[in-house]
Amino acid sequence: MTPPRKLHIKSYGCQMNVYDAQRMVDTLAGEGFVETASADDADLVILNTCHIREKASEKVYSELGRLRVMKDEAARNGRQMNIAVAGCVAQAEGEEIIRRAPVVDVVVGPQSYHHLPQLLAKAKRDGRALETEFPVQDKFGFLPPPKPDAIRSRGISAFVTVQEGCDKFCTFCVVPYTRGAEVSRPVAKIIDDVTRLADHGVREITLIGQNVNAYHGDGPDGRAWPLGKLLHRLADIPGIARLRYSTSHPNDVDDSLIAAHRDLCELMPFVHLPVQSGSDRILSAMNRRHTAAEYHAVIDRFRAARQDIAFSSDFIVGFPGETEEDFSATLALVTQIGYAAAYSFKYSPRPGTPAADMPEMVSAGEMDERLERLQQLIDSQQSAFNLAAIGSTVDVLFERPARKEGQIVGRTAYLQPAHVMASPDIIGQIRPVSIESLERYSLLGRLASRPIASAPSAHSQISTGA
Ligand code: SAH
Ligand code: SF4
Ligand code: F3S
Repeated sequence: MTPPRKLHIKSYGCQMNVYDAQRMVDTLAGEGFVETASADDADLVILNTCHIREKASEKVYSELGRLRVMKDEAARNGRQMNIAVAGCVAQAEGEEIIRRAPVVDVVVGPQSYHHLPQLLAKAKRDGRALETEFPVQDKFGFLPPPKPDAIRSRGISAFVTVQEGCDKFCTFCVVPYTRGAEVSRPVAKIIDDVTRLADHGVREITLIGQNVNAYHGDGPDGRAWPLGKLLHRLADIPGIARLRYSTSHPNDVDDSLIAAHRDLCELMPFVHLPVQSGSDRILSAMNRRHTAAEYHAVIDRFRAARQDIAFSSDFIVGFPGETEEDFSATLALVTQIGYAAAYSFKYSPRPGTPAADMPEMVSAGEMDERLERLQQLIDSQQSAFNLAAIGSTVDVLFERPARKEGQIVGRTAYLQPAHVMASPDIIGQIRPVSIESLERYSLLGRLASRPIASAPSAHSQISTGA
Protein backbone atom coordinates (compact mmCIF):
# COMPACT_ATOMS: atom_id res chain seq x y z
CA MET A 1 0.00 0.00 0.00
CA THR A 2 1.29 3.47 -0.83
CA PRO A 3 1.47 5.79 2.17
CA PRO A 4 -1.09 8.62 2.15
CA ARG A 5 0.05 11.86 0.56
CA LYS A 6 -0.03 14.94 2.73
CA LEU A 7 -2.08 18.02 1.93
CA HIS A 8 -1.77 21.45 3.51
CA ILE A 9 -4.31 24.20 2.77
CA LYS A 10 -3.84 27.80 3.82
CA SER A 11 -6.99 29.90 3.51
CA TYR A 12 -7.38 33.65 3.39
CA GLY A 13 -10.49 35.80 3.06
CA CYS A 14 -14.07 35.01 3.90
CA GLN A 15 -15.93 32.09 5.46
CA MET A 16 -16.68 30.82 1.98
CA ASN A 17 -12.98 30.10 1.55
CA VAL A 18 -12.86 28.26 4.88
CA TYR A 19 -15.75 26.11 3.74
CA ASP A 20 -14.23 25.58 0.28
CA ALA A 21 -10.96 24.44 1.90
CA GLN A 22 -12.87 21.69 3.71
CA ARG A 23 -14.51 20.63 0.46
CA MET A 24 -11.11 20.47 -1.24
CA VAL A 25 -9.88 18.25 1.60
CA ASP A 26 -12.94 16.04 1.09
CA THR A 27 -12.37 15.89 -2.67
CA LEU A 28 -8.68 15.02 -2.33
CA ALA A 29 -9.35 12.43 0.39
CA GLY A 30 -10.65 10.33 -2.50
CA GLU A 31 -7.16 10.57 -4.04
CA GLY A 32 -5.43 9.33 -0.89
CA PHE A 33 -4.53 12.73 0.58
CA VAL A 34 -4.65 13.41 4.31
CA GLU A 35 -4.44 16.86 5.86
CA THR A 36 -1.27 18.03 7.57
CA ALA A 37 -0.91 21.05 9.83
CA SER A 38 2.26 22.52 8.30
CA ALA A 39 3.48 23.15 4.77
CA ASP A 40 7.00 21.75 5.43
CA ASP A 41 6.16 18.08 5.11
CA ALA A 42 3.27 18.44 2.63
CA ASP A 43 3.23 16.80 -0.80
CA LEU A 44 0.64 19.31 -1.94
CA VAL A 45 0.22 22.87 -0.65
CA ILE A 46 -2.89 24.80 -1.67
CA LEU A 47 -3.06 28.56 -1.15
CA ASN A 48 -6.75 29.41 -1.00
CA THR A 49 -6.59 33.08 -1.80
CA CYS A 50 -8.66 36.25 -1.41
CA HIS A 51 -8.76 39.20 -3.81
CA ILE A 52 -11.05 41.56 -1.93
CA ARG A 53 -8.41 44.17 -1.06
CA GLU A 54 -4.92 44.87 -2.33
CA LYS A 55 -3.16 43.61 0.79
CA ALA A 56 -5.00 40.30 0.53
CA SER A 57 -3.61 39.51 -2.93
CA GLU A 58 -0.08 40.81 -2.16
CA LYS A 59 0.14 38.14 0.52
CA VAL A 60 -0.14 35.44 -2.11
CA TYR A 61 3.07 36.38 -3.88
CA SER A 62 5.05 36.71 -0.67
CA GLU A 63 3.72 33.33 0.49
CA LEU A 64 4.70 31.82 -2.88
CA GLY A 65 8.24 33.14 -2.31
CA ARG A 66 8.44 31.22 0.98
CA LEU A 67 6.98 28.09 -0.61
CA ARG A 68 9.58 28.18 -3.40
CA VAL A 69 12.32 27.76 -0.80
CA MET A 70 10.45 24.80 0.72
CA LYS A 71 9.82 23.22 -2.65
CA ASP A 72 13.53 23.47 -3.60
CA GLU A 73 14.50 22.00 -0.24
CA ALA A 74 12.09 19.09 -0.74
CA ALA A 75 13.47 18.48 -4.25
CA ARG A 76 17.03 18.33 -2.86
CA ASN A 77 15.80 15.61 -0.50
CA GLY A 78 14.30 13.69 -3.41
CA ARG A 79 10.73 14.61 -2.50
CA GLN A 80 8.26 16.28 -4.83
CA MET A 81 6.12 19.13 -3.50
CA ASN A 82 3.26 20.47 -5.61
CA ILE A 83 1.90 23.97 -5.18
CA ALA A 84 -1.62 24.99 -6.16
CA VAL A 85 -3.26 28.42 -6.02
CA ALA A 86 -7.04 28.37 -5.52
CA GLY A 87 -9.61 30.99 -4.54
CA CYS A 88 -10.36 34.45 -5.83
CA VAL A 89 -6.83 35.56 -6.80
CA ALA A 90 -6.56 32.38 -8.88
CA GLN A 91 -9.80 33.33 -10.58
CA ALA A 92 -8.88 36.98 -11.16
CA GLU A 93 -5.19 36.63 -12.02
CA GLY A 94 -4.71 33.00 -13.01
CA GLU A 95 -2.71 33.66 -16.16
CA GLU A 96 -0.52 36.19 -14.38
CA ILE A 97 0.23 33.76 -11.56
CA ILE A 98 1.33 31.15 -14.09
CA ARG A 99 3.60 33.76 -15.73
CA ARG A 100 4.97 35.36 -12.58
CA ALA A 101 5.37 32.34 -10.33
CA PRO A 102 6.98 29.29 -11.95
CA VAL A 103 6.78 27.56 -8.56
CA VAL A 104 3.02 27.11 -9.06
CA ASP A 105 1.89 23.79 -10.59
CA VAL A 106 -1.88 24.24 -10.57
CA VAL A 107 -4.19 27.27 -10.68
CA VAL A 108 -7.83 26.52 -9.93
CA GLY A 109 -10.76 28.94 -9.66
CA PRO A 110 -13.52 28.60 -7.04
CA GLN A 111 -15.98 27.02 -9.50
CA SER A 112 -13.65 24.15 -10.45
CA TYR A 113 -12.61 22.47 -7.20
CA HIS A 114 -14.28 19.23 -8.19
CA HIS A 115 -11.70 19.02 -11.02
CA LEU A 116 -8.70 19.14 -8.68
CA PRO A 117 -7.77 15.46 -9.15
CA GLN A 118 -7.73 15.83 -12.95
CA LEU A 119 -5.79 19.11 -12.73
CA LEU A 120 -3.12 17.48 -10.55
CA ALA A 121 -2.85 14.65 -13.09
CA LYS A 122 -2.56 17.16 -15.91
CA ALA A 123 0.17 19.09 -14.06
CA LYS A 124 2.08 15.84 -13.59
CA ARG A 125 1.78 15.11 -17.30
CA ASP A 126 2.26 18.59 -18.79
CA GLY A 127 4.11 20.48 -16.05
CA ARG A 128 1.34 23.00 -15.19
CA ALA A 129 -2.45 23.21 -15.23
CA LEU A 130 -4.90 26.11 -15.08
CA GLU A 131 -8.68 26.12 -14.83
CA THR A 132 -10.64 29.28 -14.18
CA GLU A 133 -13.75 28.67 -16.27
CA PHE A 134 -17.22 29.04 -14.84
CA PRO A 135 -18.57 25.61 -15.80
CA VAL A 136 -22.26 25.43 -16.55
CA GLN A 137 -22.86 22.58 -14.12
CA ASP A 138 -23.32 23.42 -10.49
CA LYS A 139 -20.05 22.45 -8.77
CA PHE A 140 -21.92 21.75 -5.54
CA GLY A 141 -23.43 18.64 -7.05
CA PHE A 142 -19.98 17.26 -7.84
CA LEU A 143 -18.20 17.75 -4.54
CA PRO A 144 -18.30 14.68 -2.27
CA PRO A 145 -19.90 15.00 1.16
CA PRO A 146 -17.46 15.05 4.09
CA LYS A 147 -16.50 11.75 5.76
CA PRO A 148 -17.76 11.23 9.35
CA ASP A 149 -14.33 11.64 11.02
CA ALA A 150 -13.73 14.77 9.00
CA ILE A 151 -16.98 16.21 10.39
CA ARG A 152 -16.07 15.20 13.95
CA SER A 153 -12.69 16.91 13.76
CA ARG A 154 -14.45 20.07 12.61
CA GLY A 155 -16.29 20.46 15.88
CA ILE A 156 -19.54 21.83 17.21
CA SER A 157 -20.11 24.67 14.78
CA ALA A 158 -20.05 24.28 10.99
CA PHE A 159 -20.51 26.35 7.85
CA VAL A 160 -22.74 25.22 5.02
CA THR A 161 -22.71 27.07 1.70
CA VAL A 162 -26.25 27.63 0.46
CA GLN A 163 -25.65 30.30 -2.14
CA GLU A 164 -22.64 31.45 -4.05
CA GLY A 165 -21.78 34.34 -6.35
CA CYS A 166 -23.26 37.78 -6.67
CA ASP A 167 -25.22 39.77 -9.24
CA LYS A 168 -25.15 43.07 -7.37
CA PHE A 169 -22.02 44.64 -8.87
CA CYS A 170 -21.23 47.17 -6.19
CA THR A 171 -18.71 49.40 -7.96
CA PHE A 172 -15.81 48.66 -5.57
CA CYS A 173 -16.16 44.88 -5.40
CA VAL A 174 -14.45 41.98 -7.20
CA VAL A 175 -16.78 39.24 -5.96
CA PRO A 176 -19.15 39.21 -8.97
CA TYR A 177 -16.07 38.69 -11.17
CA THR A 178 -14.30 36.09 -9.03
CA ARG A 179 -17.32 34.08 -7.87
CA GLY A 180 -19.60 34.60 -10.84
CA ALA A 181 -23.37 34.85 -11.00
CA GLU A 182 -25.59 34.03 -8.06
CA VAL A 183 -26.43 30.32 -7.69
CA SER A 184 -28.54 28.75 -4.93
CA ARG A 185 -28.27 25.11 -3.88
CA PRO A 186 -31.47 23.05 -3.80
CA VAL A 187 -33.21 22.79 -0.42
CA ALA A 188 -32.98 18.96 -0.34
CA LYS A 189 -29.16 19.03 -0.62
CA ILE A 190 -28.87 21.52 2.22
CA ILE A 191 -31.19 19.44 4.42
CA ASP A 192 -28.99 16.39 3.68
CA ASP A 193 -25.81 18.25 4.62
CA VAL A 194 -27.24 19.71 7.81
CA THR A 195 -28.75 16.37 8.87
CA ARG A 196 -25.41 14.62 8.33
CA LEU A 197 -23.57 17.29 10.33
CA ALA A 198 -26.14 17.12 13.15
CA ASP A 199 -25.84 13.31 13.25
CA HIS A 200 -22.13 13.75 13.94
CA GLY A 201 -22.47 16.19 16.80
CA VAL A 202 -22.61 19.56 15.08
CA ARG A 203 -24.98 21.84 17.04
CA GLU A 204 -24.62 25.15 15.26
CA ILE A 205 -24.88 25.82 11.54
CA THR A 206 -23.96 29.04 9.78
CA LEU A 207 -25.46 29.21 6.32
CA ILE A 208 -23.06 31.09 4.11
CA GLY A 209 -23.22 32.89 0.79
CA GLN A 210 -21.80 36.10 -0.66
CA ASN A 211 -25.39 37.26 -0.64
CA VAL A 212 -26.99 34.67 1.54
CA ASN A 213 -30.39 36.30 1.85
CA ALA A 214 -30.75 36.37 -1.94
CA TYR A 215 -31.13 32.59 -1.52
CA HIS A 216 -33.83 31.14 -3.76
CA GLY A 217 -33.09 27.40 -3.98
CA ASP A 218 -35.49 24.84 -5.46
CA GLY A 219 -37.72 23.45 -2.73
CA PRO A 220 -39.21 19.95 -2.55
CA ASP A 221 -42.57 21.51 -3.55
CA GLY A 222 -41.13 22.65 -6.88
CA ARG A 223 -41.06 26.31 -5.82
CA ALA A 224 -38.11 28.58 -5.07
CA TRP A 225 -37.69 28.85 -1.30
CA PRO A 226 -36.51 32.09 0.33
CA LEU A 227 -33.93 31.97 3.12
CA GLY A 228 -36.53 32.40 5.88
CA LYS A 229 -38.41 29.31 4.75
CA LEU A 230 -35.17 27.32 4.56
CA LEU A 231 -34.30 28.40 8.11
CA HIS A 232 -37.73 27.26 9.37
CA ARG A 233 -37.15 23.82 7.85
CA LEU A 234 -33.58 23.48 9.15
CA ALA A 235 -34.65 24.44 12.67
CA ASP A 236 -36.68 21.18 12.76
CA ILE A 237 -33.62 18.97 12.25
CA PRO A 238 -32.92 17.11 15.52
CA GLY A 239 -29.69 18.23 17.19
CA ILE A 240 -29.53 21.65 15.56
CA ALA A 241 -29.56 24.14 18.42
CA ARG A 242 -28.40 27.29 16.69
CA LEU A 243 -28.71 28.73 13.21
CA ARG A 244 -26.95 31.75 11.73
CA TYR A 245 -26.45 33.14 8.25
CA SER A 246 -23.93 35.45 6.61
CA THR A 247 -23.53 37.76 4.65
CA SER A 248 -26.76 39.60 3.97
CA HIS A 249 -27.56 42.50 1.71
CA PRO A 250 -30.04 45.06 3.10
CA ASN A 251 -32.11 44.99 -0.11
CA ASP A 252 -32.74 41.24 0.14
CA VAL A 253 -34.27 41.25 3.62
CA ASP A 254 -37.76 39.91 2.95
CA ASP A 255 -40.73 39.11 5.18
CA SER A 256 -39.79 35.42 5.39
CA LEU A 257 -36.47 36.33 7.01
CA ILE A 258 -38.09 38.73 9.46
CA ALA A 259 -40.65 36.02 10.30
CA ALA A 260 -37.84 33.53 10.92
CA HIS A 261 -36.31 35.94 13.46
CA ARG A 262 -39.71 36.35 15.10
CA ASP A 263 -40.57 32.64 15.22
CA LEU A 264 -37.39 30.60 15.60
CA CYS A 265 -35.57 30.42 18.91
CA GLU A 266 -32.82 28.51 17.06
CA LEU A 267 -32.11 31.53 14.86
CA MET A 268 -29.57 33.66 16.69
CA PRO A 269 -30.48 37.33 17.20
CA PHE A 270 -27.25 38.59 15.68
CA VAL A 271 -27.18 39.76 12.07
CA HIS A 272 -24.26 40.88 9.93
CA LEU A 273 -25.78 43.53 7.70
CA PRO A 274 -23.09 45.51 5.85
CA VAL A 275 -23.96 49.08 4.92
CA GLN A 276 -20.52 50.40 3.78
CA SER A 277 -21.37 54.10 4.16
CA GLY A 278 -23.93 56.41 5.74
CA SER A 279 -23.90 58.92 2.88
CA ASP A 280 -26.57 58.60 0.18
CA ARG A 281 -24.24 60.17 -2.35
CA ILE A 282 -21.55 57.56 -1.69
CA LEU A 283 -24.08 54.70 -1.44
CA SER A 284 -25.28 55.65 -4.89
CA ALA A 285 -21.72 55.87 -6.30
CA MET A 286 -21.12 52.44 -4.78
CA ASN A 287 -24.23 51.12 -6.55
CA ARG A 288 -25.57 49.78 -3.25
CA ARG A 289 -29.08 50.68 -4.46
CA HIS A 290 -30.45 51.84 -1.13
CA THR A 291 -30.28 54.99 0.97
CA ALA A 292 -29.25 55.38 4.60
CA ALA A 293 -32.92 55.86 5.53
CA GLU A 294 -33.86 52.60 3.80
CA TYR A 295 -31.12 50.80 5.74
CA HIS A 296 -32.51 52.23 9.00
CA ALA A 297 -35.95 50.95 7.98
CA VAL A 298 -34.58 47.43 7.48
CA ILE A 299 -32.93 47.54 10.91
CA ASP A 300 -36.25 48.68 12.41
CA ARG A 301 -38.08 45.70 10.89
CA PHE A 302 -35.61 43.28 12.52
CA ARG A 303 -35.90 45.08 15.84
CA ALA A 304 -39.68 45.02 15.75
CA ALA A 305 -39.60 41.24 15.23
CA ARG A 306 -37.01 40.46 17.87
CA GLN A 307 -36.21 42.92 20.65
CA ASP A 308 -32.88 41.35 21.67
CA ILE A 309 -31.41 41.48 18.15
CA ALA A 310 -27.97 43.01 17.59
CA PHE A 311 -26.10 43.94 14.43
CA SER A 312 -22.66 44.00 12.94
CA SER A 313 -21.63 45.67 9.70
CA ASP A 314 -18.86 46.43 7.23
CA PHE A 315 -17.69 49.93 6.30
CA ILE A 316 -15.43 51.33 3.63
CA VAL A 317 -13.73 54.66 4.26
CA GLY A 318 -12.20 56.79 1.52
CA PHE A 319 -14.32 55.63 -1.39
CA PRO A 320 -13.50 57.92 -4.38
CA GLY A 321 -15.05 61.32 -3.85
CA GLU A 322 -15.88 60.78 -0.15
CA THR A 323 -15.88 64.19 1.53
CA GLU A 324 -15.65 64.99 5.21
CA GLU A 325 -19.42 65.55 5.09
CA ASP A 326 -20.02 62.08 3.60
CA PHE A 327 -17.81 60.55 6.24
CA SER A 328 -19.69 62.41 9.01
CA ALA A 329 -22.87 60.79 7.70
CA THR A 330 -21.23 57.39 8.23
CA LEU A 331 -20.30 58.31 11.82
CA ALA A 332 -23.86 59.53 12.36
CA LEU A 333 -25.33 56.27 11.06
CA VAL A 334 -23.07 54.21 13.35
CA THR A 335 -24.05 56.36 16.31
CA GLN A 336 -27.75 56.03 15.54
CA ILE A 337 -27.77 52.28 14.95
CA GLY A 338 -25.39 51.14 17.70
CA TYR A 339 -23.47 48.06 16.59
CA ALA A 340 -22.31 45.11 18.66
CA ALA A 341 -19.31 44.78 16.33
CA ALA A 342 -18.20 46.05 12.92
CA TYR A 343 -15.38 45.80 10.43
CA SER A 344 -14.01 48.83 8.65
CA PHE A 345 -11.65 48.97 5.71
CA LYS A 346 -9.78 51.56 3.71
CA TYR A 347 -11.01 51.65 0.15
CA SER A 348 -8.73 49.63 -2.11
CA PRO A 349 -9.10 50.07 -5.88
CA ARG A 350 -9.55 46.66 -7.51
CA PRO A 351 -8.53 46.19 -11.14
CA GLY A 352 -11.50 45.73 -13.44
CA THR A 353 -14.09 47.28 -11.10
CA PRO A 354 -15.87 50.54 -12.07
CA ALA A 355 -14.71 52.43 -8.96
CA ALA A 356 -11.07 51.79 -9.88
CA ASP A 357 -11.53 54.28 -12.74
CA MET A 358 -13.24 56.92 -10.63
CA PRO A 359 -11.25 60.12 -10.08
CA GLU A 360 -10.97 61.96 -6.75
CA MET A 361 -9.08 59.37 -4.79
CA VAL A 362 -9.06 60.30 -1.11
CA SER A 363 -5.50 60.86 0.11
CA ALA A 364 -3.80 58.12 2.14
CA GLY A 365 -3.50 60.45 5.12
CA GLU A 366 -7.20 61.26 5.11
CA MET A 367 -8.12 57.60 4.77
CA ASP A 368 -5.96 56.69 7.76
CA GLU A 369 -7.47 59.45 9.81
CA ARG A 370 -11.07 58.50 8.93
CA LEU A 371 -10.43 54.82 9.57
CA GLU A 372 -9.01 55.67 12.98
CA ARG A 373 -12.04 57.80 13.91
CA LEU A 374 -14.52 55.19 12.71
CA GLN A 375 -12.72 52.36 14.47
CA GLN A 376 -12.68 54.31 17.73
CA LEU A 377 -16.42 54.78 17.55
CA ILE A 378 -17.03 51.12 16.68
CA ASP A 379 -14.68 49.97 19.47
CA SER A 380 -16.51 52.07 22.02
CA GLN A 381 -19.84 50.54 20.92
CA GLN A 382 -18.41 47.02 21.01
CA SER A 383 -16.96 47.55 24.51
CA ALA A 384 -20.25 48.96 25.74
CA PHE A 385 -22.09 45.98 24.30
CA ASN A 386 -19.68 43.51 25.92
CA LEU A 387 -19.64 45.34 29.27
CA ALA A 388 -23.43 45.26 29.34
CA ALA A 389 -23.24 41.45 29.59
CA ILE A 390 -21.47 41.61 32.95
CA GLY A 391 -23.86 40.68 35.72
CA SER A 392 -26.28 38.93 33.40
CA THR A 393 -26.82 35.25 32.70
CA VAL A 394 -26.52 34.25 29.07
CA ASP A 395 -26.71 31.05 27.05
CA VAL A 396 -23.35 29.76 25.85
CA LEU A 397 -22.77 26.94 23.38
CA PHE A 398 -19.51 25.31 24.49
CA GLU A 399 -17.11 24.41 21.72
CA ARG A 400 -13.67 23.36 22.98
CA PRO A 401 -11.08 23.46 25.75
CA ALA A 402 -9.54 26.92 26.07
CA ARG A 403 -5.81 27.55 26.12
CA LYS A 404 -5.89 27.99 29.90
CA GLU A 405 -5.88 24.65 31.76
CA GLY A 406 -9.35 23.64 32.97
CA GLN A 407 -11.19 26.34 31.03
CA ILE A 408 -13.79 25.62 28.38
CA VAL A 409 -14.72 28.20 25.78
CA GLY A 410 -17.95 28.70 23.92
CA ARG A 411 -19.91 31.48 22.31
CA THR A 412 -22.91 33.56 23.26
CA ALA A 413 -25.76 34.29 20.86
CA TYR A 414 -23.77 37.37 19.80
CA LEU A 415 -20.62 35.34 19.02
CA GLN A 416 -18.81 36.73 22.05
CA PRO A 417 -16.30 34.15 23.30
CA ALA A 418 -17.20 33.07 26.86
CA HIS A 419 -14.86 31.17 29.19
CA VAL A 420 -15.75 29.09 32.27
CA MET A 421 -13.88 26.62 34.47
CA ALA A 422 -15.70 23.35 33.84
CA SER A 423 -15.40 19.74 32.77
CA PRO A 424 -14.99 19.08 29.04
CA ASP A 425 -18.29 17.16 29.27
CA ILE A 426 -20.10 20.43 28.61
CA ILE A 427 -18.66 20.67 25.08
CA GLY A 428 -21.56 20.58 22.66
CA GLN A 429 -24.06 21.78 25.27
CA ILE A 430 -25.80 25.11 25.67
CA ARG A 431 -25.56 26.18 29.31
CA PRO A 432 -26.50 29.36 31.14
CA VAL A 433 -23.43 31.27 32.29
CA SER A 434 -23.28 34.11 34.80
CA ILE A 435 -20.95 36.65 33.28
CA GLU A 436 -18.57 38.17 35.83
CA SER A 437 -15.94 40.05 33.88
CA LEU A 438 -14.53 40.99 30.53
CA GLU A 439 -10.98 40.33 29.34
CA ARG A 440 -10.37 42.14 26.06
CA TYR A 441 -13.13 40.69 23.85
CA SER A 442 -13.80 37.57 25.98
CA LEU A 443 -16.45 37.17 28.64
CA LEU A 444 -15.48 35.30 31.80
CA GLY A 445 -18.04 33.68 34.03
CA ARG A 446 -19.25 30.55 35.76
CA LEU A 447 -21.88 27.99 34.97
CA ALA A 448 -25.19 29.10 36.42
CA SER A 449 -27.55 26.65 37.99
CA ARG A 450 -30.66 28.68 37.45
CA PRO A 451 -32.32 28.80 34.05
CA ILE A 452 -32.32 32.03 32.10
CA ALA A 453 -35.23 34.26 33.10
CA SER A 454 -35.56 36.42 30.05
CA ALA A 455 -33.36 37.58 27.22
CA PRO A 456 -31.83 41.03 27.64
CA SER A 457 -32.60 43.69 25.10
CA ALA A 458 -29.48 44.15 23.02
CA HIS A 459 -30.79 47.41 21.65
CA SER A 460 -31.20 49.03 25.01
CA GLN A 461 -27.80 47.63 26.08
CA ILE A 462 -26.16 49.50 23.24
CA SER A 463 -28.05 52.73 23.36
CA THR A 464 -27.38 53.16 27.07
CA GLY A 465 -23.68 52.43 26.58
CA ALA A 466 -22.87 54.27 23.38
N1 SAH B 1 -21.46 40.56 0.13
C1 SAH B 1 -21.11 41.40 1.19
C2 SAH B 1 -19.64 41.80 1.23
C3 SAH B 1 -18.58 40.91 0.78
S1 SAH B 1 -16.95 41.58 0.78
C4 SAH B 1 -21.93 42.67 1.11
O1 SAH B 1 -22.60 42.92 0.14
O2 SAH B 1 -21.89 43.46 1.99
C5 SAH B 1 -16.66 41.93 2.48
C6 SAH B 1 -16.39 43.38 2.77
O3 SAH B 1 -15.15 43.78 2.21
C7 SAH B 1 -17.40 44.34 2.17
O4 SAH B 1 -18.55 44.43 2.93
C8 SAH B 1 -16.63 45.64 2.12
O5 SAH B 1 -16.78 46.36 3.29
C9 SAH B 1 -15.17 45.18 1.98
N2 SAH B 1 -14.67 45.46 0.64
C10 SAH B 1 -15.06 44.88 -0.52
N3 SAH B 1 -14.39 45.42 -1.56
C11 SAH B 1 -13.56 46.35 -1.04
C12 SAH B 1 -12.62 47.26 -1.60
N4 SAH B 1 -12.41 47.33 -2.90
N5 SAH B 1 -11.93 48.07 -0.77
C13 SAH B 1 -12.14 48.02 0.57
N6 SAH B 1 -13.03 47.21 1.15
C14 SAH B 1 -13.73 46.37 0.36
FE1 SF4 C 1 -19.58 42.61 -3.46
FE2 SF4 C 1 -21.73 44.12 -3.43
FE3 SF4 C 1 -21.92 41.57 -4.13
FE4 SF4 C 1 -21.42 42.23 -1.62
S1 SF4 C 1 -23.29 42.69 -2.75
S2 SF4 C 1 -20.39 40.64 -2.79
S3 SF4 C 1 -20.15 44.02 -1.82
S4 SF4 C 1 -20.86 43.15 -5.24
FE1 F3S D 1 -12.07 37.18 -0.68
FE2 F3S D 1 -13.19 35.85 -2.60
FE3 F3S D 1 -14.19 35.73 -0.19
S1 F3S D 1 -12.32 37.84 -2.78
S2 F3S D 1 -13.72 37.73 0.62
S3 F3S D 1 -12.22 34.98 -0.80
S4 F3S D 1 -15.34 35.73 -2.09
